[in-house]
Amino acid sequence: CVMDKINIAIDGPAGAGKSTVAKIVASELHYTYIDTGAMYRALAWKALHTDTDIEHEASLISLLENTSIEIYPGDEGNKVFVDTQDVTEEIRSSEVTASVSAVSAHYGVREQMVTTQQRLAMKKGAVLDGRDIGTVVLPDAELKIFLIASVEERAQRRHRENVDNGRPSELQTILKDIQVRDEKDMNREISPLVKATDAVEIDSTRLTIEEVADKICALARERISMS
Ligand code: DC
Repeated sequence: CVMDKINIAIDGPAGAGKSTVAKIVASELHYTYIDTGAMYRALAWKALHTDTDIEHEASLISLLENTSIEIYPGDEGNKVFVDTQDVTEEIRSSEVTASVSAVSAHYGVREQMVTTQQRLAMKKGAVLDGRDIGTVVLPDAELKIFLIASVEERAQRRHRENVDNGRPSELQTILKDIQVRDEKDMNREISPLVKATDAVEIDSTRLTIEEVADKICALARERISMS
């Protein structure tokens, strides 16, 4: 019996647990996890390091054209390299987090990122997480999840994750940042964060990561056997 591979799209607001869950699901199914937010973060990182105006679309596009952004899937998540420099940790800094919404709001930037993401998912057997995976990047994905959680819960989780990783962190600041980012991601003109009509919504506020991952794996196995 040949099991056909499917693609899984996981979208939702910042801090809903998308990347943690996507990693588990990918590893359970022996699929490839692709963190699309990391790609926008990588460009934001480069912009900060080259003093590029993040509001200026043409500058960002030309920066992107002259930057190599490499994503390497692995057990611990994606390793991210910008021009051969490992920026996996640095793209999580508060400076990058604060500028990435502006970077990702430009049409020309998204166009190129989406093309790359579609290429990475071409062979199927990929789990992508982001904001527009089910709506724009992979509108034909066999399984689409829209993962949500209360803003308080999301802030708590991000805070704990920072503390666990030895990063400086302040809960109130994170809460504010998440609210600002939600607002920008949901109200931007191009590919705003919206739930695809055929996405399954999961509220993770009162679920453990494992419970969410189990739900998604069960749905995935259903869809795999149907495909
Ligand atoms: O998931 P994240 O926090 O790493 O995403 C970083 C930013 O990139 C987030 O503010 C929204 C943007 N993003 C996007 O616009 N589209 C995606 N597919 C992924 C992320």
